[in-house]
Amino acid sequence: MQTKLRGRDLITTQEWSKDELDTVLDIAFDLKRRRALGEPHALLRDKVLAMLFFFSSTRTRASFEAGMAQLGGHAQFIEAASTQIAHGDTAKEIGEILGRYNDGLAIRHCDWGVGNGYIRDVAAASRIPILNMQCEQYHPFQALADLMTIIERKGNPRGLTINVSWAYAQSYQKPLSVPQSLILLMTRFGMNVRLTHPPEFTLQPEILAQAEENARVAGSGFELCEDFDKGFLDADVVYPKSWGCMLTTADPEESARIGAAYESWIADEGRMALAHQDAMYLHCLPADRGIEVTDGVIDGPRSAVFDEAENRLHVQKAVMALTL
Ligand code: CP
Repeated sequence: MQTKLRGRDLITTQEWSKDELDTVLDIAFDLKRRRALGEPHALLRDKVLAMLFFFSSTRTRASFEAGMAQLGGHAQFIEAASTQIAHGDTAKEIGEILGRYNDGLAIRHCDWGVGNGYIRDVAAASRIPILNMQCEQYHPFQALADLMTIIERKGNPRGLTINVSWAYAQSYQKPLSVPQSLILLMTRFGMNVRLTHPPEFTLQPEILAQAEENARVAGSGFELCEDFDKGFLDADVVYPKSWGCMLTTADPEESARIGAAYESWIADEGRMALAHQDAMYLHCLPADRGIEVTDGVIDGPRSAVFDEAENRLHVQKAVMALTL
């Protein structure tokens, strides 16, 4: 167990050691147990987390805010659009100033080519830990919650196969951050990671290289697949979700045209039947129901989406309790 985490940023799990991530999971399980027992755990009394959002959220906002209250602290919700950021507040000023009011600063900024750089610029100017609530590259708390859910349902993840797959959606060009964080984290925990997507929906080459290296170091596997059905074959965990083709085109209309060619990529009962008989279905949510996944799958017995959403709360509380 690693105990020297006070003051640390969490922008990507790649910047935390395996031991440190094991500590987060250990504490997340403990905090989940304590909450279930009704045991008070006010570990952050009088501390304040600022949550700065450049992009909408349901789960992330609600779970960080609830988590801070349960830890005895307070979370302040700040929407970038209603601040002076549009009128000139720089990342450096945000880091300096919010860093002086608060004990932690969590940021969601998903703009392509901008979000991660913004978060890092704030971090460089801030005296407090910076937590990445999702940028265009990473969604570390989602991946940690997903790993916690897999461990809860399946035990030791080593040797299990997870299919991180693209699926069709119409709602919006979803960021690459969830699949990228998944392939980075699950390879480190010994899972055989299968990344399935049409050729136009590739992830960032440097992230693919890191996942490959993680798999080499951990003795796990990392394979690419371009066939939706084959991706499901014998998988223990299936995670079909949509993301945008930002690396192929910057034009939203072209991107919608490319995506429409793969309308048949929907997670349905037939695809689930290809996976291991006990395979679990995960999705970070929100999902495009009837387009990305059928109601029968997402509401079915193999779906763990509500436990997965709940576990956001516990992993975030663990990281806040360790770092703030
Ligand atoms: N999964 C997730 O991050 O949900 P929100 O976008 O609602 O926060």
